[in-house]
Amino acid sequence: MTDTGSLRVFSGRSHEALTAAICRELGIEPGARTIHRFSNENLMVQVEENVRECDVFIVQTSTSPVHEHLFELLIFIDALKRASARRVTVVAPYFPYARSDKKDRPRISITARLVADLLEAAGADRVLTMDLHAPQIQGFFKIPVDHLQAQPIISQHIRENYDLSNAVIVAGDAGEAKDVARYASKLNLDFAIIDKRRYADDEKARAENLVGDVNGKTAIIIDDEIASGGTLLQAAAFLRKKGASRIVAAATHGVLTGKAAEMLESSAIEEVAVTDTIPLMLHQRFNKLRTLTVAPLFAEAIRRIHTGTSVSELFR
Ligand code: R5P
Repeated sequence: MTDTGSLRVFSGRSHEALTAAICRELGIEPGARTIHRFSNENLMVQVEENVRECDVFIVQTSTSPVHEHLFELLIFIDALKRASARRVTVVAPYFPYARSDKKDRPRISITARLVADLLEAAGADRVLTMDLHAPQIQGFFKIPVDHLQAQPIISQHIRENYDLSNAVIVAGDAGEAKDVARYASKLNLDFAIIDKRRYADDEKARAENLVGDVNGKTAIIIDDEIASGGTLLQAAAFLRKKGASRIVAAATHGVLTGKAAEMLESSAIEEVAVTDTIPLMLHQRFNKLRTLTVAPLFAEAIRRIHTGTSVSELFR
């Protein structure tokens, strides 16, 4: 075991239920802290226990209000470093601004890179996250990043709940092809890719071609996240046209913005599974939604980081 001091896990305010579940798995209590907002809107985070020489993990996911949670995380890291924590690991189940990973329009920011710089400047020593929109975001950091996959959890759900004798895994766009190929290989299924085209900057991408065959099959759409639900709804309509007999979907991050819940509930998709990397408010829940927990996987990764054992072995 590496000498990293005793293990402590703290929670920001974005997802206290997930932190509590992770701590239950680890058999420890979440660290004590107070977060206070002054009348001028400035935040104060106070660590309410000794963390001197401890190996500290802070769980903070990206959810509304995104900027408040991000700033709270920066202040939290700073407070822990000033309290002499030996090592601070940011646990970001859904990484802030992960979709802003490249300069694909003139004169815009690469905000995921900016977030990486901010976390390092605040004093983070490591990052633990899951299914980044683009895995290359790991390279925005100079500190180590452990990148977990929800694939084993989602694959198990698929195996246990759907008849796979006539099923195919589907990527909603070419960007998802690599991930989807991994699912297909784990589940021993064929996969298909929807070819989406975008003709102008402000025009919505349209599904135009299908690589692979879904005719008469159960189509299982896999994506990294569901935000407005637009990608999923369009994929489902396209797959129906191509003859899919049943359509289900799964994604790691259930961002579920705007009317996503309502639209997915009334769509041709029979069931939508997401993990709990993001907490779901009442208006984001719907009957067809299944939530799978990532708490045991994060807890095991934290245990391994703490003891200096392999995290990648979790996925072999
Ligand atoms: C896109 O590249 C991503 O993989 C998702 O398909 C996308 O983020 C989903 O967003 P929405 O639900 O708003 O279509």
